Amino acid sequence: MFKANPNYQRLQGSYLFSTIAKKVAAYTEANKDADIIRLGIGDVTQPLAPQIISELHKAVDEMADASTFQGYAPDLGYEFLRNAIAEEYRQRGCNIADDEIFVSDGAKSDSGNIQEIFAADSKVAICDPVYPVYVDSNVMAGRSGNWNPDLQRYENFIYMPCTEENNFTPEFPKENPDLIYLCYPNNPTGMTISKDKLQEWVDYANRIGAVILYDAAYEAYISEPDVPHSIFECEGARTCAIEIRSFSKNAGFTGVRLGFTVVPKELKDADGIALHSLWARRHGTKYNGAPYIIQRAGAAVYMPEGQKQIREQVAYYMKNAELIRTGLQDAGYTVYGGKNAPYIWLKTPDQMTSWEFFDHLLSEVNIVGTPGSGFGPSGEHFFRLTAFGSYENTVRAIDRIKKM
Ligand code: MLT
Repeated sequence: MFKANPNYQRLQGSYLFSTIAKKVAAYTEANKDADIIRLGIGDVTQPLAPQIISELHKAVDEMADASTFQGYAPDLGYEFLRNAIAEEYRQRGCNIADDEIFVSDGAKSDSGNIQEIFAADSKVAICDPVYPVYVDSNVMAGRSGNWNPDLQRYENFIYMPCTEENNFTPEFPKENPDLIYLCYPNNPTGMTISKDKLQEWVDYANRIGAVILYDAAYEAYISEPDVPHSIFECEGARTCAIEIRSFSKNAGFTGVRLGFTVVPKELKDADGIALHSLWARRHGTKYNGAPYIIQRAGAAVYMPEGQKQIREQVAYYMKNAELIRTGLQDAGYTVYGGKNAPYIWLKTPDQMTSWEFFDHLLSEVNIVGTPGSGFGPSGEHFFRLTAFGSYENTVRAIDRIKKM
């Protein structure tokens, strides 16, 4: 008789956002008239910018004509898009070549898949709280060891608590990891890391021979000057870092799907094997490339008009973030994040657990958020709200919370 992958048996519950969706569906079923405002999953609500729509239309028309029709995309991405992306890095002073950009269908897939190119016994360090994909994908790959229900942790992972005490920036772990997942601006806390602090992480990774898997999906939300947009702004990052980026949050591609990963050619393992060639091999074997029309839409993001339009969209969401942050503060909550990120991380009132506060908010004022403990044990007694709702709904949500 066949056997299923036993690693999957170690996964805890279902994927966080699926659990929330099921809870909200059950509540809606029982309360059909409830006017629910969703500030849970970080999904955008504003339509794609006009420049993106225009490039999409053009690309669709090209597909209708034999002379411009496109079949399989190059598996690593079309040159026009890789060049536009790399050019933006170069303008920021980061030395990235076009062929170090690997275009994909999104940062979620890349951040889940990237672990495949590392040894099965790699020691993994993750922040706590953390975006659950890094954890679950390494559980599936057999790196987690057993789940310890008392600690709410897997025994083989190195957890790096991000708490109020350390201003939500992890400290170097006592035990040396092989893979270090960092995400800045951070999901879920909405906090950032300074350039100096990130440089310390790069130096540390180079010193101990680790790789930093740097998720910069929320880079477009940075407004303060000392906050790095890319790990490649740090000296030495080309020998220790991979960066993952998304089109979902800066340009609203959550339903369109596009992302990319930057793998520098200097990044080599203990035996001198270049991760660049492994990721290229993996991409070539398992992926037929993001669709042509979507990559054309992605290129629109880098056109001057596209840039202007997506900046306006980011500003729209950041106005919501400001409204949530100050509104919650006025209502007496302790609040973090929301300045360089579309997430607001609040402390639950009256020592409520994160899930108690979730139920409370849903039943009392019909607002959906994300329980902090769903992102890891250090997220307990915290709660995440997103700024990705419409402005009108955000205003209504904050009014309801203030009256609660
Ligand atoms: C989140 O809410 O954390 C994100 O939307 C999840 C994702 O981007 O996959």
